[in-house]
Amino acid sequence: MIKFSVSCRYADAGVRDEFKPNTIDVIADVKTERVVVLGGSGFVGSAICKNAVSKGIEVISLSRSGRPTSPSPWVDQVTWIPGDVFYVNWDEVLVGATAVVSTLGGFGSEEQMRRINGEANVVAVNAAKEYGIPKFILISVHDYNLPSFLLSSGYFTGKRKAESEVLSKYPNSGVVLRPGFIYGKRRVDGFEIPLDWIGEPVERILRATENFTKPLSSLPASDVLLTSPVSVDDVASAAINAISDDDFFGIFTIEQIKEAAEKVRV
Ligand SMILES: NC(=O)c1ccc[n+]([C@@H]2O[C@H](COP(=O)([O-])OP(=O)(O)OC[C@H]3O[C@@H](n4cnc5c(N)ncnc54)[C@H](OP(=O)(O)O)[C@@H]3O)[C@@H](O)[C@H]2O)c1
Repeated sequence: MIKFSVSCRYADAGVRDEFKPNTIDVIADVKTERVVVLGGSGFVGSAICKNAVSKGIEVISLSRSGRPTSPSPWVDQVTWIPGDVFYVNWDEVLVGATAVVSTLGGFGSEEQMRRINGEANVVAVNAAKEYGIPKFILISVHDYNLPSFLLSSGYFTGKRKAESEVLSKYPNSGVVLRPGFIYGKRRVDGFEIPLDWIGEPVERILRATENFTKPLSSLPASDVLLTSPVSVDDVASAAINAISDDDFFGIFTIEQIKEAAEKVRV
C-alpha cells in the first residue's frame, strides 16, 4: 500500500505571473505496509498472508515450521522465518514492521492452552511494543456465552489474557477479532479438509432464519447453535482492513468482522 502526498509551490522571482518560472517542489511521503504474521503457516495465518500479498503488502511470517509445503504462487512472495515465539530473535522479525497480526493459539493440556493462547501472545505484544510497531491485531475467539466453568479453561483464560495485553499496550490501535467457528480449506499433513462444506451452508441458513431465531438467543446455550460461522477469507479481510484503517481498533464481534471484510472487498 503506497500513499503519496504531493505539494507544489512556485518560486517567487518577482516577475509577472505569466513569466513565473515553473519550479515545483514535490514532497513525496511514501508509506509502505510491512506486516508480520505470527503463525502465517497456519489455517488463518495463510489466508491473511495470501490476502496481504494480493494487496501489495510486504509480509513476513514467523512459525516453528517456517515455509508451508503447498506450492501456491503467493507462498513465494512471503518471507518465511522459522522460529518459536518464545525464543526468537525479534531483530530478525520486527524491525521495520508497521503491524503485527497474531494467529497464535490452539488446544492441548490446560497448561499448553494457557501458554500458546495467553503467554505466547503476551510475549509477542510486548516485543511489538518494545520495537515501536504501531499496530497489533490479535485473532481471538467468540465466547459463545458458555458457562463459567468452560470459560475458565486454559483456552479461554489464555485468550482473554492476550486480549487485555493488546488493549492495554495498544489502547488506540490494538485490534481483537473474535470469530466463532472459522471455515475454509484447512491443510493437514498435505491433505485438504473442506470445512467450508459445513460452514458455508450453516452460515447461509442462519442468515436466512435470523428473524425467527433472534428471540431464542436469550435461551441458555443457544449461542452454541445460533452463532454464525465465518469464512477464513472474511477473517483475513478483516485483519487486512485493520492494518490499513487507523480508525479500526478495539474488540470486534463476528458480525463486525463480516462488515469489516465487506469494506476490503469493495
Ligand atoms: N480455526 C478456527 O475455527 C478458529 C475459531 C476461532 C478462533 N480461532 C483462533 O484463530 C487462531 C488461528 O487458528 P488456526 O486454526 O489458524 O490455528 P493453526 O492452523 O494451528 O495455526 C497456528 C499457527 O501458529 C503457529 N505457532 C504455534 N505455536 C507457535 C510458537 N510457539 N511459535 C511460533 N509459531 C507458533 C503454528 O505453526 P507451527 O506449529 O509451525 O509453529 C501455526 O502457523 C488461533 O488463535 C485460534 O484460537 C480459530
